[in-house]
Amino acid sequence: MPKVTIKDILNQKQNEQKKITALTAYDFPFAKLVDEAGIDIVLIGDSVGMVCLGYESTLPVTMFDMIHHVKAVSRAVKRALLVADMPFGSYRTVRSAARNANRLVRAGAETVKLEGGRKILAQVKALVRAQIPVMGHLGMTPQSIAELGGYKVQGRTKEEADRILNEAKALEKAGVFSIVLECVPRSVAKRVTSALRIPTIGIGAGPDTDGQVLVLHDLLGFESRVHPRFVRRYAEANQMIAKALREYRNDVLRKKFPSAKESFEG
Ligand code: KIV
Repeated sequence: MPKVTIKDILNQKQNEQKKITALTAYDFPFAKLVDEAGIDIVLIGDSVGMVCLGYESTLPVTMFDMIHHVKAVSRAVKRALLVADMPFGSYRTVRSAARNANRLVRAGAETVKLEGGRKILAQVKALVRAQIPVMGHLGMTPQSIAELGGYKVQGRTKEEADRILNEAKALEKAGVFSIVLECVPRSVAKRVTSALRIPTIGIGAGPDTDGQVLVLHDLLGFESRVHPRFVRRYAEANQMIAKALREYRNDVLRKKFPSAKESFEG
């Protein structure tokens, strides 16, 4: 399958029959599986902090963490478009945004994702001018968890919904090539999607966005702490892996592993 480009993602907006598929990945083996499954966009999300590094939120994730995971994922991905999250605090100023986006691109990212609307327009414009494609992220933006008062659906009131729409339009004008809409009512996602020329990628935003994204570990059933309503678990990896580990332990304890066939003679 040919390499996915920004142009392909933009063109998919016109093709209502073919939604954009996106998933997160954080390491080489999973990124390879995601890529080989034909997923269009692989996002090295700052959710890495919660699903791989054991933090309670995405806020402690550093540029060092992101670069480490971007390098691993980029070694595996041959076809999908690679998007890397800019972590909390890494794009506070135009200067830091430009410097840190460059570091992610040098590590292997093709594009970067920033959370927020009006407050980050100058950063978005500077990156686009520097030829670093940018994905936006509106709605429930986990890096602003303190300001939002928790992981809550955003855009339930008319004012909030209008604000999200206006911020999406402003981001489009600033040059982003797509926008993630996280945890917003279906009607808001639909309104934003039809108002923009660029594609929207939803997570907890209903079926009317141009594409869908999920956190890989949620989809595979690794996460046992929270079960967001918008996650469909396509596997129960936690249970499957726990069973394999118990079996290994029992086999060693009962001297059933390794067998003669699994040993070297002579
Ligand atoms: O960090 C992440 O995984 C994300 C997705 C939830 C879109 O930003």
